Amino acid sequence: MSHVLLVEDNPDFVANMREILEAIGHEVRDAGTCVKAATLGRDWVEVALVDLRLPDGDGTTLAGQLKEQNPDSEVILLTGHASVESAAAAVRAGVWAYLIKPCATPDLLATLEKAVRHVNTVVEKRELARRAQRAEKLATVGTLTAGLSHEIRNPLNAAALQLTVLERRVRKLDPAIQPPLLDPLTLVRDEIRRLEHILQDFLQFARPSPLNLKPVDLRALLEGVVAFIKTDADRRNVALTATISQPAKLSGDPDQLRQVFMNLTLNALDAAGSGGRVGIAIDHTAGSLAVHVDDSGSGVPPEVAERIFEPFFTTKAQGSGLGLPISNAIVGQHAGRIEITRSPMGGARFSVVLPRA
Ligand SMILES: Nc1ncnc2c1ncn2[C@@H]1O[C@H](COP(=O)(O)OP(=O)(O)OP(=O)(O)O)[C@@H](O)[C@H]1O
Ligand SMILES: [Mg+2]
Repeated sequence: MSHVLLVEDNPDFVANMREILEAIGHEVRDAGTCVKAATLGRDWVEVALVDLRLPDGDGTTLAGQLKEQNPDSEVILLTGHASVESAAAAVRAGVWAYLIKPCATPDLLATLEKAVRHVNTVVEKRELARRAQRAEKLATVGTLTAGLSHEIRNPLNAAALQLTVLERRVRKLDPAIQPPLLDPLTLVRDEIRRLEHILQDFLQFARPSPLNLKPVDLRALLEGVVAFIKTDADRRNVALTATISQPAKLSGDPDQLRQVFMNLTLNALDAAGSGGRVGIAIDHTAGSLAVHVDDSGSGVPPEVAERIFEPFFTTKAQGSGLGLPISNAIVGQHAGRIEITRSPMGGARFSVVLPRA
């Protein structure tokens, strides 16, 4: 299925083409003017069928504009009056094909199908290249971090141990002088904990643990996650709610799934910010369960969405950028997927879709 835009001011032609294209499974929209076509062409179109003469401009200029807005799309130009000049202009505008009216429907369809296939191949190739790049990065990062994390852990544990010794000695001193000595120690301990947390993420990422499948009730699991994060949410002044009316049973690794929902919920808290809202809900469908984590933040901008599952991609000063790649890997191991859409709360909706069986 592809999105085909018909730019033509002849309603009979539009109705006719629409019927034929829809019958072979394409989704069709039409525009009678250049202005409307340019709006639709911004992100909806894969192939546009454009008439050369339009009420508010000419098809060649529009073709150039469409290609510029959406370089992956292709334009087929239709004209009743062919001339060398208009053909040359069409080539300059980067059109895929230039057809002369009246054009036999089978010819038109064949050209259109070719353009559709071309667009799909280009998009698929780029997606494959991106996946290969991501996999390569993952592998390199994996080996490196496994070694490094191990090396860092030992001195970190030694430091934590010495800190405990120091704390114990301070507690034996005169209570009056304890607080100014203990406060910095607490700070150091918090920082060590943070480091340990990052290391744990790195290790989990470098050597993902195999799934330990058990019957899981997502409702109970999510209630546990909410109870765990509630204090943090209150402290940050974010209203965290879970509306889960019925049990949601499936087979999964409870520890790893808990980690996924913790990551998503913590991200949602970050996105919502003080005074914001975060909601967790489950959608039951025939073959699958979808857990939605919604927030009232500002959503995921396209340039972030593109890279969101890349390891180490973060927009946060304190982030490691591993939360989503780890979550995505875990959900993938469960034969599920994570979908990102707009939330009814105004911000982002991260949906974890898991098969029931
Ligand atoms: N709910 C959300 N709304 C908007 N942007 C989000 C949301 N969740 C994630 N993001 C974006 O995706 C990026 C990557 O998220 P990810 O969880 O992988 O890493 P992180 O949260 O930055 O760091 P950490 O490793 O601590 O989780 C974030 O930095 C943020 O820009
Ligand atoms: Mg995160």
